Amino acid sequence: MSSRVSRLLAGLAPSATLAVDAKAKALKAAGEPVIGFGAGEPDFPTPQAIVDAAIKACSDPSNHKYTPIAGLQDLREAIVYKTKRDTGLDIKASQVLVTNGGKHAVATTFMTLVNPGDEVLIPAPYWTTYPEAVYLAGGIPVPVLTSEANGFRVTVDELEKARTKKTKLLVFVSPSNPTGAVVTPEEIAKIGRWAAEHDIMVMLDEIYEHLVYGDAKNVSMAVVAPELEDRWVIVNGVAKTYAMTGWRIGWMIGSQEVMNAAINYQSQTTSNISNISQRAAVAALTGDLSAVAEMRTSFDRRRLMMVEKLNAIDGVSCALPEGAFYCYPNFTGLLGRSLGGKVSNTTSELAGSLLETIKIAAVPGEAFGTPGFMRFSYALGDKDIAEGLDRLADLVTKG
Ligand SMILES: Cc1ncc(COP(=O)(O)O)c(C=O)c1O
Repeated sequence: MSSRVSRLLAGLAPSATLAVDAKAKALKAAGEPVIGFGAGEPDFPTPQAIVDAAIKACSDPSNHKYTPIAGLQDLREAIVYKTKRDTGLDIKASQVLVTNGGKHAVATTFMTLVNPGDEVLIPAPYWTTYPEAVYLAGGIPVPVLTSEANGFRVTVDELEKARTKKTKLLVFVSPSNPTGAVVTPEEIAKIGRWAAEHDIMVMLDEIYEHLVYGDAKNVSMAVVAPELEDRWVIVNGVAKTYAMTGWRIGWMIGSQEVMNAAINYQSQTTSNISNISQRAAVAALTGDLSAVAEMRTSFDRRRLMMVEKLNAIDGVSCALPEGAFYCYPNFTGLLGRSLGGKVSNTTSELAGSLLETIKIAAVPGEAFGTPGFMRFSYALGDKDIAEGLDRLADLVTKG
């Protein structure tokens, strides 16, 4: 009997990051002392003022209805305000589409821009969703390997080597998931000019914009490379900045022509996003940034602790991430070695073995297009980070 499942979906890889997180949570629920470094979400609760706005919205019958397809006007205007405040970019509310989280904005962007056979440049290590979402839109994901020595910051030279006549779009994310790399404003401007010169569009994933540490500075390519004109699309959301992963609010911003098409697509797919969550997002975006400042202080402290502990382990080396909440250490020195009586030859095997033997969950580099590395999130409590990495250090010391 032929498969009931379409060829398109039969060819789609599951999200490795969500799979690791789900496995760790299930083991924990079953009473196992698992420490999950797989999570891509802040461990803090959503700030109370935002929760209160949602509670109030629930009691108002006008919020029990559909919203406009592109989102509540109040929220679109709040996104205009927030975009100007945080990046300096002037946009109109009509250029904003509210989506079901940043991931939905990413998928909608590819659906809107990509024709069958178009090539999409994706700097690697990449967020695991990008290539799969390009594939769903009929495009060809083209990984562009960045250099560990350059802190995984993509360069114009690397992009130029991967460019062909079919290159339609570049995916650009800074700060990056999984590496935490932050590209300098000068290099961002250069990349933007290169894209404009070759008439390549750029999807700017700005979801981690507020999570930068030390001297690192975050800028929007749409601002520092005005040559791009209407060739950029911004995707963003409230998940990481306001600890709102479960509320599912993201957005997409682009030229009016692109956004009209994206809004039309939404009209035939989700209709609109939860009214209550949109009200909560209005409160988040029009409120101050004190909660994210507090979270940033905690993440910064944890990042330093994590890098120090990882680098103290024989066979592990880790560059200091400048943004987001991930470390991306090189684990090749642990491959082929006996650890707790088990030998792993790939980081994928090693991730499975670490979960089994010392009950720590991290996402192997295979999920991000670069085997040999492992992504450790530091969006978990300080004590858990210390305990989890002590378990790893002990395992390696004992062999
Ligand atoms: C790089 C990047 N972009 C977008 C998202 C989407 O976030 P959400 O769909 O939770 O808003 C994530 C979440 O992990 C991410 O890491």
